[in-house]
Amino acid sequence: MSGQGPDVASRDVLDIIATTRAMRRLKPDPVPDALIRQVLEAGTAAANGGNTQKWRFMVIRDRAKKQAVQAWYKKALDEVVGPRYASSAAPPGVTAEKYHRQHSAVEYLTEHFADAPVWIVCCLEGPNPNRSTGASIYPAVQNMLLACRALGLGSTLTTRHLLFEEEAEAALGLPPGVHSYAILPIGWPMGKFGPVGRGKLSEFVFGDTYGETWAGLAD
Ligand SMILES: Cc1cc2nc3c(=O)[nH]c(=O)nc-3n(C[C@H](O)[C@H](O)[C@H](O)COP(=O)(O)O)c2cc1C
Repeated sequence: MSGQGPDVASRDVLDIIATTRAMRRLKPDPVPDALIRQVLEAGTAAANGGNTQKWRFMVIRDRAKKQAVQAWYKKALDEVVGPRYASSAAPPGVTAEKYHRQHSAVEYLTEHFADAPVWIVCCLEGPNPNRSTGASIYPAVQNMLLACRALGLGSTLTTRHLLFEEEAEAALGLPPGVHSYAILPIGWPMGKFGPVGRGKLSEFVFGDTYGETWAGLAD
């Protein structure tokens, strides 16, 4: 659906999961705090190590702050991610044409990052961000993406600002000892939600021996 509001026909959780795409073209129209609260409630329902809940979330609407971070986000596209896109092949389950469209959408979001009416910046208290610490915030991030989808809101998991982590976190105004793990730009989507494009399970799933197809896929 492309209107504003929940997609009542798609409330089934598996349907929501299968259609939670990166929505990078967002309208600048305002998003009520009440909906963002629902998204945050979904986020904080997620699993986290030891249930210590070291997560912290900033809800950013301040345009100047968003623009300051956008500058680093764009620099990372220009200097690192853009050249990588230009020289890489389409991933599994994605045609070359779709990959090209994805790149255009990535460029669009980069140019309009600060126009998204609201950002949720997902942080954790504690030093040394790594795989273990990230495991205590990304379940919350995914819950929030799914909640956005269920409410008809578009978003994308973004981490590219981390290529200039120090500078971007200074622009966000994070205190010492707090690190960001993702920025979710949120708004009403311009386009339609649709099925995600991924490879076949047989490309990714093995049985007892790594590299050997899992018998559960034979039919
Ligand atoms: C760890 C991670 C980091 C990502 N960072 C960015 C980002 O900085 N900018 C962006 O536009 N998309 C980002 N994405 C979104 C992916 O590019 C997106 O999920 C992928 O293209 C699949 O899109 P689809 O779900 O619409 O099929 C990120 C996704 C993940 C999981």
